[in-house]
Amino acid sequence: MAGRTVIISGGGTGIGLATARAFARDGDTPVLVGRRAEVVERAAADIATAVALPADLTDPAEAARVARFVAERFGTVDVLVHSAGGSGLLEPGPDNGGADAPGGALAATAHAWTVAFRVNTLTAVLLTEALRDRLASPGGRVLFLSSIAAYRGSGTGAYAASKAALHPYAFDLARDLGPRGVTVNVVAPGYIEETEFFGDAMTPERRATLVAQTLDGRPGTPGDVAETLRWLASHAASHITSQVIQVNGGAERGH
Ligand SMILES: NC(=O)c1ccc[n+]([C@@H]2O[C@H](COP(=O)([O-])OP(=O)(O)OC[C@H]3O[C@@H](n4cnc5c(N)ncnc54)[C@H](OP(=O)(O)O)[C@@H]3O)[C@@H](O)[C@H]2O)c1
Repeated sequence: MAGRTVIISGGGTGIGLATARAFARDGDTPVLVGRRAEVVERAAADIATAVALPADLTDPAEAARVARFVAERFGTVDVLVHSAGGSGLLEPGPDNGGADAPGGALAATAHAWTVAFRVNTLTAVLLTEALRDRLASPGGRVLFLSSIAAYRGSGTGAYAASKAALHPYAFDLARDLGPRGVTVNVVAPGYIEETEFFGDAMTPERRATLVAQTLDGRPGTPGDVAETLRWLASHAASHITSQVIQVNGGAERGH
């Protein structure tokens, strides 16, 4: 199955980058999509077969531009991996100025929930809809990145809900695309190190708590998730569709 075209949103960092490297090792062509041009270009420069494609996937016009590029350059998409996402905490927004701020504290709440759904749900939905007619049929693969938070909550609920929303979308998509021989699955990681996900927010204490929740006593790596995605995209997984696979060292079950 070498030589496949693999579109990876969020492909410039973390899980997406590890996924690009894993597919490239198989001789596939990863297309790295992300907002920061310098990040996807630097990542692509390190991977012989990779192509950088800067775009903000919350913007329908940008998703359409990505689809046009893919159509002209490759024609068909073999694998679509949606790794773009984030907690939303790193995105600029209004301060929670309390009841005296314009819109009150609800303005900050509205912003947090809107950002979460735009960054985690809308990016994946827009790129899928832009490319669904180009998916290799049979054999195409669509893979979403959810989170352990979809099962356990995420504090405010906004991030968790925006990831959980991907599950029914994937189930509907799997039903629609199944007759074309395309599988659709979701991978839900637990705590994964060596990504930009937590920014500067990770403390040694929080890390220790997250690791202690696993049954194997270690944090996840981007490679753990990348290899799961690679397997789901392989011929060996062709009868697996409409599933959510958790990669978290057993942490969702807790102790
Ligand atoms: N790390 C964890 O512990 C963990 C756990 C569970 C789930 N996840 C999920 O796994 C996925 C990958 O995250 P990661 O851990 O690898 O973190 P990461 O390094 O922050 O990767 C997220 C990527 O998404 C891109 N992105 C964000 N908004 C985008 C947009 N509007 N358009 C295009 N690209 C966008 C970012 O690049 P730009 O900023 O340049 O756009 C970045 O490359 C995310 O969906 C995350 O929610 C992570």
